Amino acid sequence: MSGKQRQTFDLLRPFRKLNRSLRNRFLRRRFGEKWERRGALQNRTYSSYQDYIEHQKAKLATHDFGDYDVKFREALRARLALLAIDWRALNDLCVAARIGTEVKAFLDLGCRAIGIDLNPGKENQYVVEGDFHNLAFPAQSMDVVYTNSLDHAFDIERVAKEVARVLKPNGLLLVEAGTGSDRGGHPGFYESFFWDNLDELVRPFAMFGFSVTARIPITYPWPGEMICLKLS
Ligand SMILES: C[S@@+](CC[C@H](N)C(=O)[O-])C[C@H]1O[C@@H](n2cnc3c(N)ncnc32)[C@H](O)[C@@H]1O
Repeated sequence: MSGKQRQTFDLLRPFRKLNRSLRNRFLRRRFGEKWERRGALQNRTYSSYQDYIEHQKAKLATHDFGDYDVKFREALRARLALLAIDWRALNDLCVAARIGTEVKAFLDLGCRAIGIDLNPGKENQYVVEGDFHNLAFPAQSMDVVYTNSLDHAFDIERVAKEVARVLKPNGLLLVEAGTGSDRGGHPGFYESFFWDNLDELVRPFAMFGFSVTARIPITYPWPGEMICLKLS
């Protein structure tokens, strides 16, 4: 990058920041903070599925993710490498993968990996557009599904059913999630689903044939767990 280009980049930064902040304010007014509780699980209230989609798609343009892509790729690669799994040539689908940070971690380990996201941004070679309530992949086509975005679900049972459909028998679902509200967690503005604790988060998955095989504490990008669930 030339000196002139760098100067232009720096000059525009405050305007981009202001633009993000105004857009955030507008979205907060539009979507509000109404939640509905179902036992130990809560859903943000939307007036329609279209509103949910619009809200979820907005996050990419309203945030500066700094060095997250580098740091999370490395942290996830390191903890996946500790699992007793030969990752080479496994088919892995990362759902709600934004720009593809987790896809890169799985590729680093030798998987055939791809991501889907409502908003993968422009020219993303790792992630294609898709909705985790309605996956555009054939039944029993994946060895592994990874997600750290269940807090963005509209209908957790629908997500669990779709993941069970695309996984092969004995396939592995890896869920990374924050500990929940019993331990002081709370949903941010873009979250649409939340749980009191992780026992409750995994309960809907049992209805679709998953059983928990391991729970591993994690600290980055937030305190939580990597939960390994096997499909029977
Ligand atoms: C907290 S971000 C996490 C992104 C990514 N997993 C990472 O760690 O970099 C949540 C992501 O979920 C995506 N998302 C929300 N609802 C979705 C849906 N129904 N289907 C697919 N992606 C969705 C958003 O677009 C956003 O990129």
